[in-house]
Amino acid sequence: MAPYVLPDLAYDFGALEPHISGQIMELHHGKHHKAYVDKANQTLEKLDEARDKKDLSQLPGLEKSLAFNLSGHVLHSIFWKNLMPRGGDAPAGELARFITRDFGSFESFKSQLTETSATIMGSGWGALMWEPVAQRLVTCQIYDHQSNLNQGGMPLMVIDAWEHAYYLQYRNQKLAFFDAVWNLWNWDDVNVRLEAARRLDLQVPDSVGTGAGL
Ligand SMILES: [Fe+2]
Repeated sequence: MAPYVLPDLAYDFGALEPHISGQIMELHHGKHHKAYVDKANQTLEKLDEARDKKDLSQLPGLEKSLAFNLSGHVLHSIFWKNLMPRGGDAPAGELARFITRDFGSFESFKSQLTETSATIMGSGWGALMWEPVAQRLVTCQIYDHQSNLNQGGMPLMVIDAWEHAYYLQYRNQKLAFFDAVWNLWNWDDVNVRLEAARRLDLQVPDSVGTGAGL
């Protein structure tokens, strides 16, 4: 049984236009995301076979493949839910409160996350993460799908900065794409993720000072 499946989108491929074209969405979801799902499942099968044959000589490559493809699956699954037609504007609720506390203002946060996405060297993601040790929000520049992460951090809001996310529509004008996604955020979805993330406990109580958290 393959454990991972490609989730359906909650909107039509063309529903995010003009900010993200229907053609990009169809390819991005149906080809790119699907490939990560398939390869994550295939890698688990290969690990099963390797154990059965008692041949772990290919283990490092398989571990890297699992980390890459599973992380690609997770991030794309979050990205689709982070977006909605006619989204954007500014967040409300607890998310707004934490953004102001940890970034100073929504505008400062927006600038930081956009710059985080725009300055990735190679392929990757800009992400807003919940950092469960100090119980705060941080931005993260994820390389590929799985590198440069804070252990235990939970992605709340992600921007796909791979060329496949924008090139058909925006060509080399990637900053225009990183601006455009701010018209699509589903803040209710990000708030739900924050609520779930705040229940994370890494069980390292001696690793944080009294200045952290609320
Ligand atoms: Fe992608």
